[in-house]
Amino acid sequence: MSNCIHCGPAVDVSNASQLGDAGPRRAWVDHPNYPAQVLLLGSHDGFRRLSRYLVGMAAERPRGWRAKAELLYRYWHQGMRGHEGYEEYKLYPYLARRHGTSMASLKDDHEEMHALRDQVYAAFEGGTDDALQDSLARYDALLVAHLAREEATVIPLLLDLPSREFERYTRSSIDELLASMPPCEPTADASPGAQAR
Ligand SMILES: [Fe+2]
Ligand SMILES: [Fe+2]
Repeated sequence: MSNCIHCGPAVDVSNASQLGDAGPRRAWVDHPNYPAQVLLLGSHDGFRRLSRYLVGMAAERPRGWRAKAELLYRYWHQGMRGHEGYEEYKLYPYLARRHGTSMASLKDDHEEMHALRDQVYAAFEGGTDDALQDSLARYDALLVAHLAREEATVIPLLLDLPSREFERYTRSSIDELLASMPPCEPTADASPGAQAR
């Protein structure tokens, strides 16, 4: 089970009370490599919780909420940079090469998220409370959609790796991993909804 700083601890989703509306997770629990080969979910659950908390704070607007929300948002996004960097630098390239596919649409999501994140920063710096609430809600909507797409794309591919290969993936650099694999032209984007976008 991974406790990678970028992926977060793998969560035990076998407890039905933790599943919430994350329907696809129910199918992963039955995989023989679950939960040993699950990455990302621990961090993702934290991102969803924090984003929802900030949206709620912007709706209720308790005393001093803007300063507290800004501190939390900026701190969160320092960590977000590392999380997305890990995905783009190691996880996506490995799984894309391994499975002969493309994860470009997930990377595109990150770009769109950065644009919405910058709108939140701008609203913190000079926008009205309503503008800040709207920008946090827009970021949250894309975050939730991206995390669902990413999990639906990545988790089944991770679970299907032979255990020894997964171990090697976690221990090796991306340069070592790619050097040991045959070159492969991406044929299709593996992420759900990629065709429609
Ligand atoms: Fe992620
Ligand atoms: Fe991501």
